Amino acid sequence: MRSLMNPLDLSVEEIDELIDTANDIIENPADYFEKCKGKKLAVLFYEPSTRTRLSFEAAMYELGGEVLGFSEANSSSAAKGESVSDTAKTVSCYADIIAMRHPLEGAPYVASRAGSIPVINAGDGGHNHPTQTLADLLTISREKGRLNDLTIGFCGDLKFGRTVHSLITALSRYTGIRVVLISPDELKLPGYIRRDVLEKNDIPYTQTEDLVSSIPELDILYMTRIQGERFSDRDEYNRLKDSYILTTDKLEGAKSDLAVMHPLPRVNEISIAVDDDPRACYFKQVRNGKYIRMALILKLLGLSKSKHEIIEQTDKSVYVKNILTCKNPRCISSCEQELAHIFKLTDPEAGVCRCIYCEAIADKRFDYIAGEVIKA
Ligand code: NCD
Repeated sequence: MRSLMNPLDLSVEEIDELIDTANDIIENPADYFEKCKGKKLAVLFYEPSTRTRLSFEAAMYELGGEVLGFSEANSSSAAKGESVSDTAKTVSCYADIIAMRHPLEGAPYVASRAGSIPVINAGDGGHNHPTQTLADLLTISREKGRLNDLTIGFCGDLKFGRTVHSLITALSRYTGIRVVLISPDELKLPGYIRRDVLEKNDIPYTQTEDLVSSIPELDILYMTRIQGERFSDRDEYNRLKDSYILTTDKLEGAKSDLAVMHPLPRVNEISIAVDDDPRACYFKQVRNGKYIRMALILKLLGLSKSKHEIIEQTDKSVYVKNILTCKNPRCISSCEQELAHIFKLTDPEAGVCRCIYCEAIADKRFDYIAGEVIKA
């Protein structure tokens, strides 16, 4: 059984294969009408969504399968205090695959450990959103004809924007990528992504607050919404919410083949007039999102012909349980009391551990002679 939590759960070859399948579905939709006959997708959405949930549902219907689920936590037993694990065990009795969106980081991962069917992370807090990344990669490959040799500007809320975190992580495996990070100082890309993804993979990047002067060098401009729901301070959100507004004037100095992307919803970051510019790709991203999710459902249900055999790798990492505590207030393990705190020793020499749910670094070093060491 295979789940998808992070774009790196898929190899580059598997992503290429998903892109090929999605392109084939676009060309020959009728070949796929019955592929998922008799299969059910459960959409468990604890947070608002339009595109992600509806594209998952449309994807399953277009594959001939069926859909069940809920679109808000209040209409499920979560409102009565049921844990994510118990919900996942329950839904495993009714469905063949789960797509879960949750405000807490690591919640879909908890579901994947507890349930007995594949789980797709459809967005967990400010952490990851791998299927938006797949939609973005399909769009980039269709628009630019390549995933290498690109200068990409990310603009807006780079701190809380999970689509940005996942796309940068996915792009780190391609060659010739340059990144321009455009944000207010308060909403800069988290340090762990700059260090562990960009610097570790020798990806050149610059940080700036200036959108207009960055535009001319870009092949892709990835605009994002300021994520109001993740701010603890409302005044700060109100001060920052209109930091960037892309208008047709600002695109005057841009390359003629720039691709303007946005995961949507837009609030005010791109003026409506930009929609008529042939460089605007955000509604193409929406359409591509359905096709790549069709390809992904087929893959995780084992219904697509893959040249790449799934090899379950033996995990030799060291994990520690209930010795360190995750201090990230948005982590599922900080909020569900009965959940064990499990950390993976990611840098044994320095004793650095990361929470297995949200990837936050433990604030204490770990001496692993002393602790209870477990296998995950
Ligand atoms: C994004 C999300 O939910 O993270 N939307 C989406 O899934 N397409 C972006 C956002 O909400 O700003």
